[in-house]
Amino acid sequence: MPDSNVIELHPSAAPLIRRLDYRPPAWRLPRIELSFELEPEHTRVEAQLWLEPDPAQPGAALVLDGEGLELIELELDGRRLSADDYRYTDGKLHLPGVSSACRLRSVVLIRPLLNTALEGLYVSGELLLTQCEAEGFRRITFCVDRPDVLSVYTVELRADAQAYPVLLANGNPASSCELPDGRHAARWHDPHPKPSYLFAIAAGVMDRVSTHFTTAEGREVEVNVWADAGMAARCEYALGATLRAMRWDEQRFGRCYDLDVFNIVAAQDFTMGAMENKGLNIFNARYILADIDSATDADFEAVESVIGHEYFHNWSGNRVTVRDWFQLSLKEGFTVFRDQEFTSDLRSRAVKRIEDVRMLRGRQFPEDAGALAHPVRPDSYREINNFYTATIYEKGAEVVRMLHTLLGEASFRRGCDLYFERFDGTAASVDAFLDCMREASGHDLIQFERWYAQSGTPVVTIESQYDASQRRFSLHFKQSTAPTPDQADKQALHIPLRYALYGADDQPIEPAPLTEHAARPGLIELRADQQSVRFENIKTPPLVSFLQGLSAPVRIDYRYTPAELARLAWIERDPLCRWDALQQLALPALLDGSEIHATALSNALGSLLADRTADPSFVALCWQLPEFEVLVDARPRVDVDAVLDARRSLLRQLAQTHARLLTTRYTELAQFDPDSLEPAPSAARRLKNLCLQRLALIEPHGARAFAQFERAGTLTDRLGALAALIHASAPQTNAALAVFKARIGTDLLLNDKWIGLLATRPAAEALDDVVALLDTPHWQPRNPNRVRALLGSFARSNPAALHRRDGAGYALLFSQVPIIDALNPQVASRLLGALETWRRLDADRQAMIEAGLHALRARGLSRDCGEMLERLLA
Ligand code: PHE
Ligand code: ZN
Repeated sequence: MPDSNVIELHPSAAPLIRRLDYRPPAWRLPRIELSFELEPEHTRVEAQLWLEPDPAQPGAALVLDGEGLELIELELDGRRLSADDYRYTDGKLHLPGVSSACRLRSVVLIRPLLNTALEGLYVSGELLLTQCEAEGFRRITFCVDRPDVLSVYTVELRADAQAYPVLLANGNPASSCELPDGRHAARWHDPHPKPSYLFAIAAGVMDRVSTHFTTAEGREVEVNVWADAGMAARCEYALGATLRAMRWDEQRFGRCYDLDVFNIVAAQDFTMGAMENKGLNIFNARYILADIDSATDADFEAVESVIGHEYFHNWSGNRVTVRDWFQLSLKEGFTVFRDQEFTSDLRSRAVKRIEDVRMLRGRQFPEDAGALAHPVRPDSYREINNFYTATIYEKGAEVVRMLHTLLGEASFRRGCDLYFERFDGTAASVDAFLDCMREASGHDLIQFERWYAQSGTPVVTIESQYDASQRRFSLHFKQSTAPTPDQADKQALHIPLRYALYGADDQPIEPAPLTEHAARPGLIELRADQQSVRFENIKTPPLVSFLQGLSAPVRIDYRYTPAELARLAWIERDPLCRWDALQQLALPALLDGSEIHATALSNALGSLLADRTADPSFVALCWQLPEFEVLVDARPRVDVDAVLDARRSLLRQLAQTHARLLTTRYTELAQFDPDSLEPAPSAARRLKNLCLQRLALIEPHGARAFAQFERAGTLTDRLGALAALIHASAPQTNAALAVFKARIGTDLLLNDKWIGLLATRPAAEALDDVVALLDTPHWQPRNPNRVRALLGSFARSNPAALHRRDGAGYALLFSQVPIIDALNPQVASRLLGALETWRRLDADRQAMIEAGLHALRARGLSRDCGEMLERLLA
């Protein structure tokens, strides 16, 4: 709370950092030696920095970053400094008068146990861990904490041998020894120069699983996955996934691992998903620990994908890092593209693409259309932690995917090779990446670069014309991007647009289009505001389909009849377009109450469900109606109650119409190797549980779901049945919940599944359950996973409860944000992001939200929340 003696920390007090203000670092830091005396209450950190001024910037002052450090000693080239020699204020250590290369030695004390923000060095259970991206290293010691300053690190860790038997840091182990008083020490050396955000240590009582990997270059690597004592068995899957990732990056991108050890640590307290620290990845435990009782099929897939993601950063992020934080998507968008390809190559490409597009449309499109819109390469920020967004990650990956589409696999790969070779060991920029792509392919990418600079999702409006006498078919394209709060003027983008034409016989027609814009058959490159293409010798009016595989992150506006969409859903060769045709049928059915669309959708879903040759995962995805946020995103104004009602009743109607088929397929699928984790049985499980959940809507007796719950051999089946019971308010719900609760024991991951289930029950009354949970030991506001499972899923995945008419949902959010903010600003700020599209709501709800946001702003929260509130209210 602000009081009269304290200057109120108003959000605008945090300086705006602008991309165009970038200047190269005035001081280099080629070598760092660190020594830690690890103690949870206070850890002593001794640092030696070898500093060198940039000859191109003579006279530049030496200013180091340091946040909340208790300074004990400072020494310059062996000379002890006195308080007159330096000034330490507002997170900066000024050393006036220093102008040439020098060695700075500092000793500071830090307090891991009090660190609830989980940035810098902190305590998680029995472990001491670090998190340094983006600006956490300055909470450990004085340094030049920016990504374009690369150093070679040597690190010594000293600690009590019993409490901290395992001592890990980046790079390779150099030596270890016993010390007096029951302490011991380990030295690590990382030969690869790296920025401070990739620094990491981990210490404590841990168990591991371990194996060896021989790289394609012949290097022997020891690979370890570490977790809390007793958890090793749950790390086996993660270890296997690590080996798959290492091999895949060699085969698909020609990238080998470059150290003698690769360590991965699972942490129960972690703000984000995982972190790619060089040679020492630190993970949120929920992306490591996985076995048949604690992980669903979706969790296994997520573990493999996040393991891949962090491992792939070893090249896209670590060997080549980012010049400044505006280039964040250079490593994140590129690495998401790489992890998407990894999953696609190992599993079903079709299913992976649909899942990713669902995520893009459910999270990124709304972000790009709401109060928080920003480009893939932002122009300014106050708090960089607010920019780890769907736009940076998911849209960034789409932009890389478009390059892949335009260039083709071979040229794209040449561009990547050139980029890794040219910028190895340096900090690069988006421009440099694009230069490599251009040089390797000969493609002109000047206009393409706007994808990084311009926010908002473009709309491509298409009209078609068939001239029977000339046997000519034409397509007319118009592109436009609506203004966003951050950018008024928009320019035309370079859009790779795939298309397909189908003839009366449902076969693809492959005519050569008459236009200079066609890169190759099936691909048009849109560049102008308006463009047309013509196809000659087309015998009958074709059915045309666009954006195969979602070839660009755009919206298409093309008038299909319901019959055409239903036909597309059946004849399209591209699975994403088939799925999308069904989504397009669902939108008017849900938003405009269109019976014709609803009927066409129902018929199409019926045929699909009856098709035993179709991949059951694909069928399950097709049966999922567009989520609430996609419906909000589809119209400038939303009537929350009407949309939720429409969705509920269409789900029910589909269940009623297809009850027999749903039952038959449920029974068939249930017999297919129900407890195996292999791909085919998992796919069957996905559709089986979809059938179960739909049937539960019209089987309030709950018998089928309860039977599945009782016999379930996998967490997928157990949770699937439990969700079906809860959503249907079946009589066995409480009994089943009690059984599940008893299984939780000390398993925090199961705890989060349980509270997440309660928080996402699609009913206004779920709010009461959330409020009740706040008073139980299941709730731990300091733990980001607990916050995400309860408040995060409530705010992001329970529109019926969040948007309650009486405002109780908003009131809960607004009362919890300051509590979380005082502990972990990053987590609190993310909760506020759930309101990014609040201006689409009705006047009453807007008024309640606006009042709540203003009240929060007046409290003077963290820089993270301050910036978020400012943008939400702008
Ligand atoms: N760089 C991490 C990733 O792989 C994300 C992250 C950001 C983790 C900030 C921690 C802190 O995407
Ligand atoms: Zn990443």
